[in-house]
Amino acid sequence: MTLRLVEPLSDDQLNKAYSDILSPLAWDLGHIGNFEELWLVQTIGRREPMDGDLGRFYDAIENPRATRNELPILRGDDLRAYMEGVRERTLEVLGVIELEDTDDRLLRDGFVYELILAHEHQHSETMLQLLQMVESYETSGRREPARDEGGQAPDALLIDGGEFEIGAAERDFAYDNERPRHTVELAPFEIDRTPVTNAEWIEFMDDTGAEPPLYWHRDEEGGWARTAMGQTCEVDPAQPVVHVDHAAATAYAEWAGKRLPTEFEWEAAAQAGALEMMGEVWEWTSSDFEPYPGFEAFPYDEYSKIFFGPGHKVLRGGSWATHRSVIRRSFRNWDLPERRQIFSGLRCARMSDEQL
Ligand SMILES: [Fe+2]
Repeated sequence: MTLRLVEPLSDDQLNKAYSDILSPLAWDLGHIGNFEELWLVQTIGRREPMDGDLGRFYDAIENPRATRNELPILRGDDLRAYMEGVRERTLEVLGVIELEDTDDRLLRDGFVYELILAHEHQHSETMLQLLQMVESYETSGRREPARDEGGQAPDALLIDGGEFEIGAAERDFAYDNERPRHTVELAPFEIDRTPVTNAEWIEFMDDTGAEPPLYWHRDEEGGWARTAMGQTCEVDPAQPVVHVDHAAATAYAEWAGKRLPTEFEWEAAAQAGALEMMGEVWEWTSSDFEPYPGFEAFPYDEYSKIFFGPGHKVLRGGSWATHRSVIRRSFRNWDLPERRQIFSGLRCARMSDEQL
């Protein structure tokens, strides 16, 4: 799937740095291969690195996105040969290791394989963020889903207060930051059944002079169009708004007389049955990215631990660009609040009427 995503692109396009806040696609591809080599071929398969200390250049923490195109990373045929070589060795390792009856936490229930798959799927979403900026890119697979017509203002769902179980169950694949599962006490609240739409966002802009989402521009008739992946289309009023930052999302909610939900409210609402919570847009929450009580970093500190703190805001759900196997109620995405190249939208909440 990853290779299919980049198939329409030339090597020049793969090598180009389109934005300071995104990697050139060639880096993502090499990094996907290198992550797989590191965890499966080297750590589990106990083999020597295939290409010396190549891994240094694909370390996401050591190499900020803006610098990645200056690194001596693999490109063109070398890159493709490396990815193929890694996958061959991965399959060899899979053929000989035991996934059951093992004391190794990395191997138990195939954790490390799930990790590699999830990592690759998450990078294909990051690559789709950059593909929005590529002119004349024709996606061969995924497209933005059409939404059911309806267009009416979203109803709110009342969630009774009480205790909610938050986080991933012990047996399922999940990241360290989704654990341990724990109980959270919530006051009663209301949450919109569906995310904020483009039509509602336009009303907000008209009323307050707020900025349009990324990729929007005025069309000839004075309406709104968006240009992404080399295609210009009218903004569809019924679609959820996407590519807005955290401050704008917060301002929208206030304008609407509501607020952003906390991430726990979001998860409780997903358990209670709100709609379109997964697979449309990532939804900004008011929560900082913090560890759950009793958090334990696994399998490495750089996945979540170093990002904890008030600098990152949690997004919940999953977007049209997120692979289905990555989407789950307990999944916590996080990013800098000013980011809007991500597929970020919002849904509003408020205290229930009894509280007002
Ligand atoms: Fe990564």
